[in-house]
Amino acid sequence: MLLFKNVKDLQSYLQIQMGNGKLIGFVPTMGALHEGHLSLFQKCLQTSDLSVGSIFVNPTQFNDPADLVKYPRTPEKDIEMLAGVGCHVLFMPSVEEVYPKGHKLPEPIDFGYLDQPMEGAHRPGHFQGMAQVVRRLLDIVQPDHLFMGQKDYQQFAIVKEMLRQLKLKTDLIMCPIVRENDGLAMSSRNVRLTKEGRLLAPAIFRALNMAKEKISGHFPREIEEDAIKMLSMPGMEPEYFEIVDGFTLRPIEQFEDVDVAVACTAVKVGDIRLIDNIVLKNNA
Ligand code: PAJ
Repeated sequence: MLLFKNVKDLQSYLQIQMGNGKLIGFVPTMGALHEGHLSLFQKCLQTSDLSVGSIFVNPTQFNDPADLVKYPRTPEKDIEMLAGVGCHVLFMPSVEEVYPKGHKLPEPIDFGYLDQPMEGAHRPGHFQGMAQVVRRLLDIVQPDHLFMGQKDYQQFAIVKEMLRQLKLKTDLIMCPIVRENDGLAMSSRNVRLTKEGRLLAPAIFRALNMAKEKISGHFPREIEEDAIKMLSMPGMEPEYFEIVDGFTLRPIEQFEDVDVAVACTAVKVGDIRLIDNIVLKNNA
């Protein structure tokens, strides 16, 4: 695996590869890698000739400065894991490399309603920061394929909209959520859960499954209320549980109204904020 720390070297290398007709697949991450991340690389390796990963803890998408400081960083282990799955190229830039002094940032993109609800409402500025860095990384790597997880459903929808508005040729591929045996969605933040928190956290997946079981015969609002009750207990506090249209992310009144319905939730388990989702209906 080749490791690049600066933009120029990476671009010179990639230009040669593109010139040789190689299809480039890209997996952006913030490191502290787990099996969920690795599944994206495996998909990337199957689909592309050259797999490029990035590890960059992007400061502009952390609305809470304490979360940025505490974000887990395991670079040596990450490098080992990526080399282990056969990733070809890893880009690990510094903050100065991604946002050099004097680099003019493009105008923010208007995502309409997509960045307003759920994570957008609870983490002001998060999605503009996320979109900014993904745009910058795409500009550097110029991939044919971009692999992102369903785990961050709203993030995926926003990146898709960004690619559309910027008319980029990059093809965005959604990869399924990888879970622990007890259903907890893998997340870099899981290592920060306390022992008690780790035991409580699988209730999130149970609530999502409950929602899926209830879609025939119940209204979305009823299911949301039940889920909020299920997730409210000592040591655990739901921030939201919303059943939304899978494309517009708008709340839905009844399941018959949409082709794709998704239940999305954010739950605080102790001090740690976890997100998860499940597709309830997919007729797309
Ligand atoms: P990060 O949280 O490191 O996630 C990187 C990618 O891994 C995202 O596309 C995310 O959806 C996916 N992922 C995380 N957990 C997963 C799981 N359990 N199963 C499947 N895929 C999973 O998302 C970010 O970083 C950043 O916002 C980023 C896009 C890199 C921009 O900074």
